[in-house]
Amino acid sequence: MDLFEYQARDMFEKHGVPVLAGEVATTPEEARAAAERIGQKSGGVVVVKAQVKTGGRGKAGGVKVVKSPEEAQEAAEAILGMDIKGHTVHTVMIAQGAKIAEEYYFSILLDRTNRSYLAMCSKEGGVEIEQLAVERPEALARIEIDPSVGLDDAKAAEIVEAAGFTDSKDELAKTFKTLYTVYTEEDASLVEVNPLVKTEDGEIIALDGKVTLDENSDFRQPHHADLEDKEAADPLEAKAKAKGLNYVKLDGNVGIIGNGAGLVMSTLDVVAYAGEDKTGGKAKPANFLDIGGGASAQVMADGLDVILGDEQVKSVFVNVFGGITACDAVANGIVQALEMLGDDATKPLVVRLDGNNVEEGRKILADANHPLVSIADTMDGGAEKAAELAAKEN
Ligand SMILES: Nc1ncnc2c1ncn2[C@@H]1O[C@H](COP(=O)(O)OP(=O)(O)OP(=O)(O)O)[C@@H](O)[C@H]1O
Ligand SMILES: [Mg+2]
Repeated sequence: MDLFEYQARDMFEKHGVPVLAGEVATTPEEARAAAERIGQKSGGVVVVKAQVKTGGRGKAGGVKVVKSPEEAQEAAEAILGMDIKGHTVHTVMIAQGAKIAEEYYFSILLDRTNRSYLAMCSKEGGVEIEQLAVERPEALARIEIDPSVGLDDAKAAEIVEAAGFTDSKDELAKTFKTLYTVYTEEDASLVEVNPLVKTEDGEIIALDGKVTLDENSDFRQPHHADLEDKEAADPLEAKAKAKGLNYVKLDGNVGIIGNGAGLVMSTLDVVAYAGEDKTGGKAKPANFLDIGGGASAQVMADGLDVILGDEQVKSVFVNVFGGITACDAVANGIVQALEMLGDDATKPLVVRLDGNNVEEGRKILADANHPLVSIADTMDGGAEKAAELAAKEN
Protein backbone atom coordinates (compact mmCIF):
# COMPACT_ATOMS: atom_id res chain seq x y z
CA MET A 1 0.00 0.00 0.00
CA ASP A 2 1.31 3.41 -0.99
CA LEU A 3 0.88 6.27 1.46
CA PHE A 4 -0.02 9.87 0.77
CA GLU A 5 2.77 12.37 1.41
CA TYR A 6 1.05 13.69 4.55
CA GLN A 7 0.81 10.15 5.95
CA ALA A 8 4.51 9.60 5.23
CA ARG A 9 5.26 12.94 6.91
CA ASP A 10 3.37 11.89 10.05
CA MET A 11 5.12 8.52 10.07
CA PHE A 12 8.53 10.21 9.71
CA GLU A 13 7.70 12.53 12.59
CA LYS A 14 6.67 9.60 14.80
CA HIS A 15 10.08 7.98 14.31
CA GLY A 16 12.07 11.17 14.74
CA VAL A 17 12.91 12.03 11.12
CA PRO A 18 13.16 15.84 10.88
CA VAL A 19 10.11 17.22 9.05
CA LEU A 20 8.32 20.56 8.90
CA ALA A 21 4.85 21.33 10.19
CA GLY A 22 2.07 20.17 7.87
CA GLU A 23 -1.73 20.00 7.96
CA VAL A 24 -4.22 18.61 5.49
CA ALA A 25 -7.18 20.51 4.05
CA THR A 26 -10.02 19.48 1.77
CA THR A 27 -11.48 22.92 1.08
CA PRO A 28 -9.89 26.31 0.22
CA GLU A 29 -11.23 27.74 3.51
CA GLU A 30 -9.58 24.97 5.51
CA ALA A 31 -6.37 25.62 3.58
CA ARG A 32 -6.51 29.28 4.53
CA ALA A 33 -7.03 28.48 8.21
CA ALA A 34 -4.18 25.96 8.16
CA ALA A 35 -1.92 28.50 6.44
CA GLU A 36 -2.66 31.01 9.20
CA ARG A 37 -1.46 28.53 11.83
CA ILE A 38 1.46 27.00 9.92
CA GLY A 39 2.71 30.27 8.40
CA GLN A 40 3.44 31.71 11.84
CA LYS A 41 6.51 29.47 11.95
CA SER A 42 7.92 30.62 8.63
CA GLY A 43 7.14 34.31 8.14
CA GLY A 44 3.86 33.56 6.38
CA VAL A 45 5.43 31.37 3.69
CA VAL A 46 3.71 28.02 3.21
CA VAL A 47 3.58 25.44 0.45
CA VAL A 48 0.26 24.08 -0.83
CA LYS A 49 0.80 20.51 -2.01
CA ALA A 50 -1.57 18.20 -3.89
CA GLN A 51 -1.99 14.86 -2.11
CA VAL A 52 -2.12 12.20 -4.82
CA LYS A 53 -0.41 8.84 -5.00
CA THR A 54 1.68 9.61 -8.06
CA GLY A 55 4.92 11.40 -8.80
CA GLY A 56 5.57 14.65 -10.64
CA ARG A 57 3.10 16.75 -8.68
CA GLY A 58 5.33 19.82 -8.81
CA LYS A 59 5.66 19.71 -12.58
CA ALA A 60 1.90 19.33 -12.97
CA GLY A 61 1.31 22.52 -10.97
CA GLY A 62 0.29 20.66 -7.82
CA VAL A 63 2.92 22.25 -5.53
CA LYS A 64 2.73 26.01 -4.94
CA VAL A 65 4.79 28.22 -2.66
CA VAL A 66 2.68 31.12 -1.30
CA LYS A 67 3.24 34.05 1.05
CA SER A 68 -0.09 34.58 2.78
CA PRO A 69 -3.23 32.75 3.92
CA GLU A 70 -5.17 34.47 1.09
CA GLU A 71 -2.74 33.13 -1.48
CA ALA A 72 -2.88 29.70 0.16
CA GLN A 73 -6.66 29.73 -0.26
CA GLU A 74 -6.33 30.67 -3.94
CA ALA A 75 -3.70 28.01 -4.53
CA ALA A 76 -5.86 25.39 -2.83
CA GLU A 77 -8.79 26.44 -4.99
CA ALA A 78 -6.66 25.86 -8.08
CA ILE A 79 -5.15 22.57 -6.91
CA LEU A 80 -8.22 20.87 -5.38
CA GLY A 81 -10.05 19.03 -8.13
CA MET A 82 -6.99 19.09 -10.40
CA ASP A 83 -6.22 15.92 -12.34
CA ILE A 84 -2.64 14.71 -12.00
CA LYS A 85 -1.89 11.68 -14.19
CA GLY A 86 -5.42 10.38 -13.76
CA HIS A 87 -5.57 11.07 -10.01
CA THR A 88 -8.07 13.68 -8.84
CA VAL A 89 -6.83 15.87 -6.00
CA HIS A 90 -9.24 15.67 -3.03
CA THR A 91 -6.80 16.84 -0.37
CA VAL A 92 -3.94 19.31 -0.11
CA MET A 93 -1.26 19.56 2.53
CA ILE A 94 -0.29 22.97 3.83
CA ALA A 95 3.39 22.70 4.70
CA GLN A 96 5.65 25.13 6.43
CA GLY A 97 7.92 26.89 3.90
CA ALA A 98 11.60 25.97 4.05
CA LYS A 99 14.54 28.15 3.06
CA ILE A 100 16.26 25.59 0.90
CA ALA A 101 20.03 25.75 0.37
CA GLU A 102 20.50 22.34 -1.26
CA GLU A 103 18.26 19.46 -2.37
CA TYR A 104 19.35 15.82 -2.00
CA TYR A 105 17.81 12.43 -2.76
CA PHE A 106 17.64 9.40 -0.47
CA SER A 107 15.72 6.14 -0.64
CA ILE A 108 15.71 2.62 0.75
CA LEU A 109 13.95 -0.15 -1.10
CA LEU A 110 13.58 -3.89 -1.24
CA ASP A 111 15.97 -5.39 -3.78
CA ARG A 112 14.28 -8.68 -4.63
CA THR A 113 16.87 -9.80 -7.18
CA ASN A 114 19.72 -9.58 -4.69
CA ARG A 115 17.61 -10.58 -1.68
CA SER A 116 18.68 -7.50 0.20
CA TYR A 117 17.87 -3.84 0.70
CA LEU A 118 19.23 -1.07 -1.46
CA ALA A 119 19.93 2.50 -0.43
CA MET A 120 20.15 5.17 -3.14
CA CYS A 121 21.48 8.60 -2.50
CA SER A 122 22.43 11.70 -4.47
CA LYS A 123 23.62 15.21 -3.75
CA GLU A 124 21.53 16.33 -6.70
CA GLY A 125 17.99 15.67 -5.56
CA GLY A 126 14.76 17.41 -6.49
CA VAL A 127 12.24 16.96 -9.23
CA GLU A 128 14.62 15.68 -11.95
CA ILE A 129 15.88 12.56 -10.19
CA GLU A 130 14.53 10.11 -12.81
CA GLN A 131 16.41 12.00 -15.52
CA LEU A 132 19.57 12.05 -13.41
CA ALA A 133 19.39 8.29 -12.90
CA VAL A 134 19.29 7.77 -16.67
CA GLU A 135 21.70 10.45 -17.87
CA ARG A 136 24.34 10.42 -15.14
CA PRO A 137 23.92 7.22 -13.14
CA GLU A 138 27.30 7.83 -11.45
CA ALA A 139 25.71 10.79 -9.61
CA LEU A 140 23.31 8.40 -7.88
CA ALA A 141 25.08 6.22 -5.32
CA ARG A 142 23.68 2.71 -4.89
CA ILE A 143 24.64 0.92 -1.70
CA GLU A 144 23.48 -2.54 -0.69
CA ILE A 145 22.26 -2.98 2.88
CA ASP A 146 22.51 -6.45 4.36
CA PRO A 147 19.15 -6.93 6.14
CA SER A 148 20.81 -9.02 8.86
CA VAL A 149 23.19 -6.16 9.69
CA GLY A 150 21.00 -3.19 8.89
CA LEU A 151 21.92 0.43 8.31
CA ASP A 152 24.44 0.90 11.12
CA ASP A 153 26.97 3.70 11.68
CA ALA A 154 29.46 2.18 9.27
CA LYS A 155 26.85 1.78 6.52
CA ALA A 156 25.54 5.30 7.05
CA ALA A 157 29.08 6.66 6.71
CA GLU A 158 29.56 4.58 3.57
CA ILE A 159 26.43 6.10 1.99
CA VAL A 160 27.53 9.62 2.92
CA GLU A 161 30.93 9.00 1.27
CA ALA A 162 29.54 7.28 -1.82
CA ALA A 163 27.19 10.18 -2.50
CA GLY A 164 30.13 12.59 -2.16
CA PHE A 165 28.94 14.71 0.76
CA THR A 166 31.64 16.90 2.26
CA ASP A 167 29.74 18.57 5.09
CA SER A 168 26.77 17.94 7.44
CA LYS A 169 27.99 14.34 7.36
CA ASP A 170 26.93 13.40 10.89
CA GLU A 171 23.52 14.97 10.49
CA LEU A 172 22.97 13.13 7.20
CA ALA A 173 24.16 9.81 8.60
CA LYS A 174 21.79 10.17 11.53
CA THR A 175 18.87 10.95 9.22
CA PHE A 176 19.63 7.91 7.03
CA LYS A 177 19.63 5.70 10.11
CA THR A 178 16.32 7.12 11.31
CA LEU A 179 14.77 6.58 7.88
CA TYR A 180 15.99 2.99 8.04
CA THR A 181 14.14 2.64 11.35
CA VAL A 182 10.98 3.76 9.56
CA TYR A 183 11.67 1.21 6.82
CA THR A 184 12.10 -1.76 9.17
CA GLU A 185 9.76 -0.93 12.03
CA GLU A 186 6.87 -0.09 9.72
CA ASP A 187 7.55 -3.05 7.39
CA ALA A 188 7.96 -0.83 4.36
CA SER A 189 9.23 -1.92 0.97
CA LEU A 190 10.05 1.66 -0.04
CA VAL A 191 10.98 4.80 1.85
CA GLU A 192 11.92 7.67 -0.44
CA VAL A 193 12.74 11.27 0.39
CA ASN A 194 13.02 13.65 -2.56
CA PRO A 195 14.04 16.24 -1.71
CA LEU A 196 15.92 15.76 1.51
CA VAL A 197 17.09 19.34 1.98
CA LYS A 198 19.70 21.35 3.78
CA THR A 199 18.22 24.66 4.85
CA GLU A 200 20.01 27.98 4.90
CA ASP A 201 20.43 27.39 8.65
CA GLY A 202 22.21 24.09 7.95
CA GLU A 203 19.40 21.81 9.09
CA ILE A 204 18.65 18.54 7.30
CA ILE A 205 14.91 18.11 6.69
CA ALA A 206 12.72 15.63 4.77
CA LEU A 207 10.54 17.87 2.58
CA ASP A 208 8.73 15.14 0.69
CA GLY A 209 8.07 11.50 1.53
CA LYS A 210 7.01 8.43 -0.36
CA VAL A 211 6.36 5.24 1.61
CA THR A 212 5.10 1.86 0.42
CA LEU A 213 4.03 -0.56 3.14
CA ASP A 214 4.20 -4.33 2.76
CA GLU A 215 0.63 -5.59 3.20
CA ASN A 216 1.91 -9.05 4.19
CA SER A 217 2.77 -7.52 7.56
CA ASP A 218 -0.72 -6.15 8.22
CA PHE A 219 -1.20 -8.78 10.95
CA ARG A 220 1.52 -7.24 13.08
CA GLN A 221 0.90 -3.63 12.06
CA PRO A 222 -2.76 -3.16 13.05
CA HIS A 223 -2.43 0.64 12.90
CA HIS A 224 -1.74 0.44 9.16
CA ALA A 225 -5.44 -0.25 8.58
CA ASP A 226 -6.10 3.40 9.48
CA LEU A 227 -3.87 4.51 6.60
CA GLU A 228 -5.99 2.84 3.95
CA ASP A 229 -7.64 5.14 1.43
CA LYS A 230 -11.17 3.83 1.89
CA GLU A 231 -12.70 6.17 -0.71
CA ALA A 232 -10.46 4.89 -3.46
CA ALA A 233 -10.95 1.19 -2.72
CA ASP A 234 -13.30 -0.72 -4.99
CA PRO A 235 -16.29 -1.71 -2.80
CA LEU A 236 -16.25 -5.33 -4.02
CA GLU A 237 -12.51 -5.60 -3.40
CA ALA A 238 -13.02 -4.13 0.07
CA LYS A 239 -15.75 -6.67 0.80
CA ALA A 240 -13.56 -9.54 -0.45
CA LYS A 241 -10.65 -8.31 1.65
CA ALA A 242 -12.84 -8.21 4.75
CA LYS A 243 -13.73 -11.86 4.10
CA GLY A 244 -10.07 -12.77 3.56
CA LEU A 245 -10.48 -13.66 -0.14
CA ASN A 246 -7.87 -13.21 -2.87
CA TYR A 247 -10.03 -11.19 -5.25
CA VAL A 248 -9.25 -8.70 -7.99
CA LYS A 249 -12.05 -7.02 -9.91
CA LEU A 250 -11.77 -6.92 -13.70
CA ASP A 251 -14.17 -5.34 -16.16
CA GLY A 252 -15.77 -8.34 -17.89
CA ASN A 253 -19.01 -10.25 -17.31
CA VAL A 254 -17.98 -13.86 -16.53
CA GLY A 255 -17.35 -14.36 -12.82
CA ILE A 256 -14.48 -16.74 -12.10
CA ILE A 257 -13.83 -18.93 -9.06
CA GLY A 258 -10.94 -21.35 -8.90
CA ASN A 259 -8.53 -22.88 -6.43
CA GLY A 260 -4.87 -22.01 -6.71
CA ALA A 261 -3.52 -18.85 -8.32
CA GLY A 262 -2.09 -20.71 -11.32
CA LEU A 263 -5.38 -22.44 -12.14
CA VAL A 264 -7.31 -19.18 -11.76
CA MET A 265 -4.88 -17.37 -14.06
CA SER A 266 -5.22 -20.00 -16.75
CA THR A 267 -9.01 -19.98 -16.29
CA LEU A 268 -8.95 -16.24 -17.05
CA ASP A 269 -7.01 -16.97 -20.24
CA VAL A 270 -9.35 -19.75 -21.33
CA VAL A 271 -12.48 -17.65 -20.67
CA ALA A 272 -10.98 -14.66 -22.48
CA TYR A 273 -10.17 -16.92 -25.46
CA ALA A 274 -13.64 -18.52 -25.46
CA GLY A 275 -15.18 -15.05 -25.26
CA GLU A 276 -13.32 -13.95 -28.38
CA ASP A 277 -13.74 -17.22 -30.24
CA LYS A 278 -17.40 -18.01 -29.47
CA THR A 279 -19.04 -14.67 -28.71
CA GLY A 280 -17.01 -12.19 -30.74
CA GLY A 281 -15.64 -10.50 -27.62
CA LYS A 282 -18.99 -10.12 -25.83
CA ALA A 283 -17.81 -12.25 -22.87
CA LYS A 284 -14.74 -11.48 -20.77
CA PRO A 285 -13.52 -12.44 -17.29
CA ALA A 286 -15.08 -10.28 -14.56
CA ASN A 287 -12.60 -11.02 -11.80
CA PHE A 288 -9.78 -13.08 -10.36
CA LEU A 289 -10.82 -15.11 -7.32
CA ASP A 290 -8.67 -17.80 -5.76
CA ILE A 291 -10.46 -19.66 -2.98
CA GLY A 292 -7.29 -21.54 -2.08
CA GLY A 293 -6.82 -25.11 -0.94
CA GLY A 294 -9.45 -25.58 1.76
CA ALA A 295 -12.54 -24.65 -0.22
CA SER A 296 -15.12 -24.92 2.55
CA ALA A 297 -18.79 -24.18 1.99
CA GLN A 298 -18.33 -20.87 3.78
CA VAL A 299 -15.43 -19.80 1.54
CA MET A 300 -17.43 -20.82 -1.53
CA ALA A 301 -20.45 -18.88 -0.25
CA ASP A 302 -18.30 -15.83 0.47
CA GLY A 303 -16.74 -16.03 -2.99
CA LEU A 304 -20.10 -16.40 -4.75
CA ASP A 305 -21.55 -13.62 -2.63
CA VAL A 306 -18.83 -11.19 -3.76
CA ILE A 307 -19.03 -12.21 -7.41
CA LEU A 308 -22.84 -12.15 -7.58
CA GLY A 309 -22.71 -8.68 -6.03
CA ASP A 310 -20.94 -7.47 -9.18
CA GLU A 311 -23.70 -6.08 -11.40
CA GLN A 312 -21.63 -6.66 -14.53
CA VAL A 313 -21.47 -10.41 -13.90
CA LYS A 314 -23.89 -12.42 -16.08
CA SER A 315 -22.58 -15.94 -15.50
CA VAL A 316 -20.08 -17.66 -13.22
CA PHE A 317 -17.49 -20.28 -14.04
CA VAL A 318 -16.35 -22.38 -11.07
CA ASN A 319 -13.20 -24.27 -12.06
CA VAL A 320 -11.85 -26.45 -9.28
CA PHE A 321 -9.16 -29.08 -9.24
CA GLY A 322 -9.67 -31.38 -6.27
CA GLY A 323 -6.43 -31.95 -4.44
CA ILE A 324 -6.16 -31.94 -0.68
CA THR A 325 -9.76 -30.77 -0.65
CA ALA A 326 -11.44 -33.42 -2.77
CA CYS A 327 -14.15 -32.72 -5.37
CA ASP A 328 -16.96 -34.12 -3.21
CA ALA A 329 -16.15 -31.59 -0.48
CA VAL A 330 -16.08 -28.79 -3.07
CA ALA A 331 -19.39 -29.96 -4.55
CA ASN A 332 -20.95 -30.03 -1.09
CA GLY A 333 -19.55 -26.55 -0.60
CA ILE A 334 -21.23 -25.29 -3.76
CA VAL A 335 -24.59 -26.87 -2.87
CA GLN A 336 -24.47 -25.48 0.67
CA ALA A 337 -23.31 -22.08 -0.57
CA LEU A 338 -26.31 -21.89 -2.92
CA GLU A 339 -28.58 -22.81 0.00
CA MET A 340 -26.98 -20.09 2.14
CA LEU A 341 -27.38 -17.50 -0.61
CA GLY A 342 -30.98 -18.53 -1.38
CA ASP A 343 -32.66 -15.90 -3.57
CA ASP A 344 -29.42 -13.90 -3.77
CA ALA A 345 -28.09 -16.49 -6.20
CA THR A 346 -29.60 -15.43 -9.51
CA LYS A 347 -27.00 -16.03 -12.21
CA PRO A 348 -26.13 -19.28 -14.01
CA LEU A 349 -23.19 -21.25 -12.68
CA VAL A 350 -21.05 -23.54 -14.79
CA VAL A 351 -19.03 -25.94 -12.66
CA ARG A 352 -16.07 -27.96 -13.81
CA LEU A 353 -14.58 -30.37 -11.32
CA ASP A 354 -11.59 -32.59 -11.80
CA GLY A 355 -9.07 -34.44 -9.66
CA ASN A 356 -9.55 -36.23 -6.39
CA ASN A 357 -13.02 -37.88 -5.98
CA VAL A 358 -14.31 -36.25 -9.17
CA GLU A 359 -17.10 -38.83 -9.73
CA GLU A 360 -18.51 -38.34 -6.23
CA GLY A 361 -18.36 -34.58 -6.69
CA ARG A 362 -20.24 -34.62 -9.98
CA LYS A 363 -22.85 -36.96 -8.51
CA ILE A 364 -23.47 -34.61 -5.58
CA LEU A 365 -24.08 -31.72 -8.01
CA ALA A 366 -26.26 -33.87 -10.29
CA ASP A 367 -28.35 -35.10 -7.34
CA ALA A 368 -28.81 -31.57 -6.00
CA ASN A 369 -30.12 -30.65 -9.47
CA HIS A 370 -30.00 -26.91 -8.76
CA PRO A 371 -31.70 -24.98 -11.59
CA LEU A 372 -28.81 -22.49 -11.92
CA VAL A 373 -26.01 -25.07 -12.02
CA SER A 374 -24.71 -26.88 -15.05
CA ILE A 375 -21.77 -29.27 -15.04
CA ALA A 376 -18.96 -29.14 -17.56
CA ASP A 377 -16.61 -32.03 -18.27
CA THR A 378 -13.64 -29.99 -19.43
CA MET A 379 -12.11 -26.63 -18.68
CA ASP A 380 -12.47 -25.44 -22.30
CA GLY A 381 -16.07 -26.70 -22.46
CA GLY A 382 -16.92 -24.95 -19.18
CA ALA A 383 -15.34 -21.70 -20.33
CA GLU A 384 -17.27 -21.77 -23.60
CA LYS A 385 -20.56 -22.48 -21.84
CA ALA A 386 -20.02 -19.68 -19.31
CA ALA A 387 -18.98 -17.24 -22.06
CA GLU A 388 -22.05 -18.07 -24.15
CA LEU A 389 -24.38 -17.65 -21.16
CA ALA A 390 -22.85 -14.26 -20.37
CA ALA A 391 -23.04 -13.08 -23.98
CA LYS A 392 -26.71 -14.11 -24.20
CA GLU A 393 -27.56 -11.96 -21.17
CA ASN A 394 -25.88 -8.83 -22.55
N1 LIG B 1 7.96 22.84 2.46
C1 LIG B 1 8.59 23.33 1.40
N2 LIG B 1 9.22 24.51 1.43
C2 LIG B 1 9.84 25.01 0.36
N3 LIG B 1 9.91 24.38 -0.83
C3 LIG B 1 9.30 23.20 -0.95
C4 LIG B 1 8.61 22.61 0.15
N4 LIG B 1 8.09 21.42 -0.27
C5 LIG B 1 8.48 21.30 -1.56
N5 LIG B 1 9.19 22.34 -1.98
C6 LIG B 1 9.79 22.52 -3.31
O1 LIG B 1 8.96 21.97 -4.29
C7 LIG B 1 9.62 20.94 -4.99
C8 LIG B 1 8.64 19.83 -5.31
O2 LIG B 1 8.07 19.34 -4.10
P1 LIG B 1 7.86 17.79 -3.86
O3 LIG B 1 9.12 17.06 -3.94
O4 LIG B 1 7.11 17.65 -2.60
O5 LIG B 1 6.92 17.42 -5.04
P2 LIG B 1 7.27 16.61 -6.37
O6 LIG B 1 8.65 16.07 -6.33
O7 LIG B 1 6.89 17.38 -7.54
O8 LIG B 1 6.31 15.53 -6.20
P3 LIG B 1 6.65 14.02 -6.37
O9 LIG B 1 7.63 13.69 -5.30
O10 LIG B 1 5.31 13.43 -6.19
O11 LIG B 1 7.22 13.85 -7.74
C9 LIG B 1 10.75 20.50 -4.08
O12 LIG B 1 11.82 19.95 -4.81
C10 LIG B 1 11.11 21.78 -3.38
O13 LIG B 1 12.01 22.56 -4.18
MG1 LIG C 1 9.39 15.01 -4.55
